[in-house]
Amino acid sequence: MTNHHADATDAGAASSSSATGTTVTVDAHLPSDWARGAMREDIHRAFTRRPMILPPKWLYDDRGSEIFDGITRLPEYYPTEAEREILAGHAAEIAAVTGATTVVELGSGTSDKTRTLLDAFWSTGQLERFVPLDVSEATLLAAADMLAARYEGLEVRAVVGDFTRHLQQLPRGGTRLVAFLGGTLGNFYEEERRAFLGAMADSLEEGEWLLLGVDRVKEVGRILDAYNDSAGLTDDFIKNVITVLNRELDGDLPVQDFDYIPFWDAKQERVDMRLRATAPIQSRIAALDLDVALDLGEELRVEISNKFRIDQLDAELASLGFELAHSWTDANEDFGMVLARRTAD
Ligand code: SAH
Ligand code: TRP
Repeated sequence: MTNHHADATDAGAASSSSATGTTVTVDAHLPSDWARGAMREDIHRAFTRRPMILPPKWLYDDRGSEIFDGITRLPEYYPTEAEREILAGHAAEIAAVTGATTVVELGSGTSDKTRTLLDAFWSTGQLERFVPLDVSEATLLAAADMLAARYEGLEVRAVVGDFTRHLQQLPRGGTRLVAFLGGTLGNFYEEERRAFLGAMADSLEEGEWLLLGVDRVKEVGRILDAYNDSAGLTDDFIKNVITVLNRELDGDLPVQDFDYIPFWDAKQERVDMRLRATAPIQSRIAALDLDVALDLGEELRVEISNKFRIDQLDAELASLGFELAHSWTDANEDFGMVLARRTAD
């Protein structure tokens, strides 16, 4: 199944059928240049404020998505297998409890673990539609093809978009379950997380569902090893953001003059991943007409990964329009999964 989807930059939604009779639709209601425009704004803001904070979505170009996929296979990166274990144990229950006919997945990436969830929905016959949304177009479309081939007759509607901006553009109808897996909720700062969950509540109807996979607070050594692997993949992944902005915005930041510095912020209970200048840096980002200067030792904040206490997360969800239906963990109690229902306003 190759090339049966249209380029997402075409005007309007495009769809076509494969030889197996399944359909992948690519939602193209976003302007074709939204990503580039958003990146320009984000990167300009990042380099003109202190502290300098880069939004994580720009980590995931094709190469970044590939490195991330490698991270999920590392022995040190325990969340992926822990989450898969929970999904394997409870997917049937999730399908039964929610009765959902549409599964939406935000930040779907390769949708690898999602098969475990969708298999359960598919086997009951209730699943009509799968809507993966991701900013990383090539990875999204490859996953959409894979799933359309696996579930013959399933409507797969891929949305190239930003889950911090485009939740209102998710297709409606049926009963929806929105899955947000992989601990990606932990990559928001607290205020952003509240804004995201609030927007999520706004875009769901009463009785629709949210399924969150979050990493839990645990022994710090194990957490840090997951973000500082011995193979150096995480180091590559974080530094790739410099390569991305140099390429997309015609910049000349010296990748070799940054060190990757991950540390545990005990107060906030999160991993903080930064790049630190190992030399004074004088660079230019031509597409922004912006000169960038970093002192020796100055840091760029690239990513955080919050670890959760489930009772606190439940309280936050309750304050934002959700009621907890179930929560699960893996046998090792490393990872948490929370199923919540949109309540009446
Ligand atoms: N769900 C997968 C991937 C998690 S990595 C898993 O559990 O392994 C985070 C994913 O979210 C990546 O695929 C990345 O491209 C996507 N992403 C990050 N920020 C995004 C944003 N603002 N909008 C949409 N997708 C985003
Ligand atoms: N959602 C993932 C997490 O917080 C993202 C991630 C995994 C990540 N490894 C990373 C982000 C390394 C930056 C660097 O676990």
